[in-house]
Amino acid sequence: ATYRVVIPAAGAGKRMGADRNKLMLELRDRPIIAWTLDVFEADPACMEIILAINPLEQEWFTSIVASYKTSIRLVAGGAERQESVLRGLEALEGEGIVLIHDGARPFISQAAIHAVVQAAVLDKAAILAVPIKDTVKRIEANHISETVPREHLMAAQTPQAFDLATIRMVHEKAATKYLGTDDASLIEWDGGKVTIVHGHYENIKMTTPDDLWFGEAILMKRGK
Ligand code: CTP
Ligand code: MG
Repeated sequence: ATYRVVIPAAGAGKRMGADRNKLMLELRDRPIIAWTLDVFEADPACMEIILAINPLEQEWFTSIVASYKTSIRLVAGGAERQESVLRGLEALEGEGIVLIHDGARPFISQAAIHAVVQAAVLDKAAILAVPIKDTVKRIEANHISETVPREHLMAAQTPQAFDLATIRMVHEKAATKYLGTDDASLIEWDGGKVTIVHGHYENIKMTTPDDLWFGEAILMKRGK
């Protein structure tokens, strides 16, 4: 099935600790956001890209998107990721499947995109996730209060794929009431069901400086 994708790219990248939006940092001489856009540009099922950006960075992003053939519209993001996504969703008309994908995840594969789209066609809401590898502790003031059984834990990734009307409705409803770090959590908050599709471990989110090294290694493995 075809889809449109909202890509939040309006963050500050605080944990990366660089002097600018981390999506401007380069992997193999190409900005992170360009690697992300390349994947959707290469996918014939992707009809349109809505990129939520910080208006202060509009000039930079405008020059980046100029080289793509896929229709890319820039919208102003907000102070929180959730607000940036909402602005992107509001820019979309009609119906169909919408993907929401972090600009900071440049290593997503086309196969994983298609798997999560297919799940959303059937179930209206689906996300990519991978089994967590570490044992997770709940902590209180530097001491462990609980060990969470790992067999029930997965790490959520993007893209997350939804029926457009459904996700726009919950985003509008949640706007003043609930703040989540991903979009599936808004569906959960509203009492809806979200299907899990197994993703791949390479689909990391570029978050801290170490991720730049992991990213270079992934590109090397792929022969790029
Ligand atoms: N994002 C956004 N608008 C915001 C915050 C985040 O569009 N107000 C985007 C980021 O640009 C990123 C994605 O959401 O592509 C995932 O967020 P995250 O990895 O947390 O990026 P940042 O918020 O930029 O980083 P940090 O939390 O370390 O400041
Ligand atoms: Mg953030």
